[in-house]
Order: sequence, then structure tokens, then C-alpha cells
Amino acid sequence: MATPFPNHPQLRGNYAPINFEAQIQDLVVEGSIPQGLSGSLYRNGPNPKYAPTGPYHWFAGDGMVHAFHFNNGRVDYLNRWIKTPKHLSELAEGRSLPRVRRPDPDTGRVAADHQNGLANTHIIWHGEQLLALDEGSYPFELDSVTLDSKGYSAQGGALSGAMTAHPKIDPMTGELHGFGYMTGYAGSSMISYHVVNKAGTVIRSDVFEAPYPAMVHDFVMTADYVLFPIFPLTFDAARATKIGSPFAFDAAQGTHIGVLKRGAPVSEMRWIEGPLCFVFHYQNAWNEGDQITVDTVEFAVAPNFPLVDGSLPSYEDAQGKVVRWHINMKNGEVRQESILDVASEFPRMDERYTAARYRHGYIAAASQRQKGDGGLFHEITHIDMDSGTIRTWDAGLGNGVSEPVFVPEDEVSGEGEGWLLATVYREETRSSELVVLNAAAVDDGPVASIRLDHRIPFGFHGSWRSA
Ligand SMILES: [Fe+2]
Repeated sequence: MATPFPNHPQLRGNYAPINFEAQIQDLVVEGSIPQGLSGSLYRNGPNPKYAPTGPYHWFAGDGMVHAFHFNNGRVDYLNRWIKTPKHLSELAEGRSLPRVRRPDPDTGRVAADHQNGLANTHIIWHGEQLLALDEGSYPFELDSVTLDSKGYSAQGGALSGAMTAHPKIDPMTGELHGFGYMTGYAGSSMISYHVVNKAGTVIRSDVFEAPYPAMVHDFVMTADYVLFPIFPLTFDAARATKIGSPFAFDAAQGTHIGVLKRGAPVSEMRWIEGPLCFVFHYQNAWNEGDQITVDTVEFAVAPNFPLVDGSLPSYEDAQGKVVRWHINMKNGEVRQESILDVASEFPRMDERYTAARYRHGYIAAASQRQKGDGGLFHEITHIDMDSGTIRTWDAGLGNGVSEPVFVPEDEVSGEGEGWLLATVYREETRSSELVVLNAAAVDDGPVASIRLDHRIPFGFHGSWRSA
């Protein structure tokens, strides 16, 4: 029998899961869907089926995907849990099952298991596959229309480790570059680097050593380099009993950036010192010769995780800001430049410019953030990186916007000519809508608002797939 969920900050309000799978034909639209907006938006996020039995973290809920299929001005919707082995065994037992893995009696190590994850972080279209990703597992394949679970992708067999939730797809070649951290076992300092070709075949999956074992959420790629910034959110199994988490921000370890020329063997990885901070997500990166530009959402320390003494970050230290890094590969110097001094997260861009010099960034922001608001973002903000112009649409304090996903107007439109799609949780009605904004005029407000009668719980990432 399913039991009530505990009163936990990451299970309350719109962090609370929904308990159904729905299919809705022809949603009510206020305004009008732009001509040519034809395809599917997929969004992924945590949505635990059963009340957790132990401590809970937002990152630890079962993945649920929400899809909006756009066709000639009409929008259909469906949502489905991702039927991972964990989700299926919980359904069979009728309760949450803790994911405890026993250490090997000989080595004392907990071996990595990449086919027992949550698949709850991102969802991408690559190699003619719709793939749900979490950073500890292989990609998990879903049907792109029905969202039926197909299981862990066969490409997993050729990967040396897990696949990040933030691989980068080179728009020139269709190649996907990704990585996985703690390759082999929990606490390993080894990192996998994968390249998957346009057809979905793994063509490279190497392993290299980082300066220390750490949680690594994202990385960046340019035309000539791949960069692996390692921040000191370090892993130490013994901490779990002392401070309740094996992961903690250990400033003394410093930040190290692994820089590799694309195509070079991992033995040629060069390590440079990076700024002491923490980054979950990058907006983009590019290089001009040996000058590399990286746009980050920088935190002073790792938000949502303890410091080594077990204390939690201050409110100020837990706010992300957009900061550009100028990396000079001649001398290994990194200079930081503030781009947006407003609490923000979930940066996106026109992905036809991934790894290239680009102009337009889009992000969820909270200029009116208040302490204790649960980390809600109430604004969608466009940053013109060249002119410095900031344009914002405010969904209203108390409401929560998702990451904005950019959709080009058509194949030949210029950078930033297109639409932004974001879900908005309305506190007053306790329901969500999907808004369509003109990416070049976000401050004009939505051109279309697509209504649901239910909530889409706060999730992580999503993608658009053109029809
Ligand atoms: Fe992420």
C-alpha cells in the first residue's frame, strides 16, 4: 500500500511528485502557436512514485518525462514514468526501495552499476534515439511518440563508464561528446571520455585520471578543445557517517581544468588551475586559436551540498551568477568576467552554435528572489552577449519557470531567430502551462500559453526535436 509522503522541503509545493500518467489531446491554447513550430518538446525531472524510506534529495526521484507534440497549431501532451529496473521493482513491491549497493568484500569498493539508475536528469535526441540521461548510468531509450520505455541503450555496452546528462552535440558533424565520472567504482578519480557518431555508434571511450574523486555534472567543448573543469565537490565514503553526505565542498583541493585537443589521446590532457568556485552548467564555449571563452553559471561553493565541516552554504553563496571565463592556453591563465549579476540557473542557447562563437544566451533568473522561496526562478532572461542588453519576461513572484529551450524558426534562420519554450508553475491555480516566447523579444511576454489542468513538478532539463 502506498503511504503518504513526508513533509520535506524537496517534496512540498511544486517539488511534490504527481501520481498519474496522462494523455491529453488538443490542449487549450491562449494566443496562437507560431506557424512552423512543429515537433516535440520533451522535459525530464524527478518524480518519486513512493514515499522515500530514508533521507531524500531532489536529485534522487524517479525520472518522469513530459512531452508536448506540436502539429499544425495543435498541441497534444503526455507524461510517463521512465520504467527503469528500479521503478519496475518498486511497482512490483508497492514501496520505495533504498538503492544500497554492498562493497566488494575483497576491495572494499562499491562497483559502478550503469543499468540501475533513475534516468531523471535530461532527455535528448541523438542517433535516431530518444535518450533519457542521468550522470551515473548509460543512456535509457524511450519511444519518441508514446514515451514507452525501451530500456538501456545498446550503446552502453561500448561505453567505458556512465554518460553525463550534459553531452555536447557538434552541430557540424552530429557527433556527441560526453563523459562519466567515478569510472569503475564509487570514489574513483577516473573519468571516461566518450565520442558517439551521428548514427549513434560509440567511436571512442577512453579513461583518464582527475586530480581527485569529485561529482562532475557538465563540461564544455569548442571547435578545437574539450574541457573538463573539476571542482572540489569531492567524494569521501567515510564522510557519510560523520556529516551525512559522502560529497562535500573541499575548497583546499582547488579547481582543476583538464584541457584536451579534440582528437588527441587522453595522455595529452593538460591540467590548468581554475577559479575556486562551483559550476553545475555551462551556457557555451568557443576558442579562437589558443584563447578559450567559457560561459558558466558560477556559485561560490556547491549549493545543496555541505562544506567539509558539515555546515551548509550561506544563502548568498548558494546563488548562481553568469560569469565568463577567458582562458589563455599560452600561459594557462583564467580571467573571470561578470556577465549577469542576478541569481540564475539553467542556461541554454541556440544549439546550432554549440562549441562556436555565439551571441545569445537564455536562462531562468530570479531578480526578486527572496530567502526561503525554495529557489524558484520567476523570470526568463535573454542575454545579448555582444551588446550586453538584458531582456526579461517576469512570470510573477511566487511562480516558477523552467529552463528555456530554444527552437529555431526554421533551418536557415539566423542565430536567436526562433522561440523559447518553458513551463511555468502558477502558484495560484497549482497548475502548469507551457509558454512560447519570441526569443528576440522575450520582454513582450508569451505569444502562446498552452494550458494544463495539472502541475509539472520542478524538473531539470529538456530538448526540442523538430518534426
Ligand atoms: Fe544539469
